[in-house]
Amino acid sequence: MIPQYRDFLEIDAETIRDARRIWPVLEPELSSILQAFYDRTDAVEHLGNKTRGRRGPLISKQSRHWKLLLTGQLDTDYINSTINTALKHREIDLPFDWYINSYLVLGDMFRRALDNHSEVDRGTALAAHAAIYKLIAFDMAVASVAYNSALVD
Ligand code: HEM
Repeated sequence: MIPQYRDFLEIDAETIRDARRIWPVLEPELSSILQAFYDRTDAVEHLGNKTRGRRGPLISKQSRHWKLLLTGQLDTDYINSTINTALKHREIDLPFDWYINSYLVLGDMFRRALDNHSEVDRGTALAAHAAIYKLIAFDMAVASVAYNSALVD
C-alpha cells in the first residue's frame, strides 16, 4: 500500500528535495506554528479539554513527527511513528474528522509561514507548497488507515 500511495501522490525524489530544501526555513517557525495550532484546539470545547495545559510536551512530540515527514524520512521508523500516533489519537477519543481536518489547518499554517518569509522566493515557495501538500496527504492516508483499523479490531 505504501509504494502505491507514493506513486499515486507522485512523491518522488524531486518532492523530497523540495521539502528538504525548505525545512531549514520552516523548522524555526514550527514552534510558533504549533503554538497557534494549540490556541485553536484549546478554543474548541471537546478538543481543549485534551490539549490545555500540555503544550510543551505536545509541541515537542508533534515537532518530531513533522521533522520526520517533511525531511522525507519515509522509512519504517516514520511509518511506525505515524501508526502509533494515530492510535494514540484514537485512544484519547479525538474524533476522526477533527484529526483529519487539523492536517488541513496545519498545512495552511505552513503555507502562510512560507508566503510571509522574505528569504523565500516565489518559485521555491510554490515547489515547497506542492511537496508539503503531497507529504501531508501521504501522512493523512497512513494515519487514517491506522486510526480506522483500530475501530474494527
Ligand atoms: C495533524 C494533526 C496532528 C498531528 C500530526 C499530531 C501529532 C501528535 C503526536 C506525534 C503525538 C505524540 C504521540 C505519542 O505520544 O506517541 C500527539 C499526541 C497528542 N495529540 Fe496530536 N496531533 C495532531 C492533531 C491533534 C489534535 C487536533 C488534537 C486535539 C485534541 C491533538 C491532541 C493530542 C494529545 C492530547 C496528545 C497526547 C496523547 C497522550 O499521550 O495522552 N492532536 N499528537
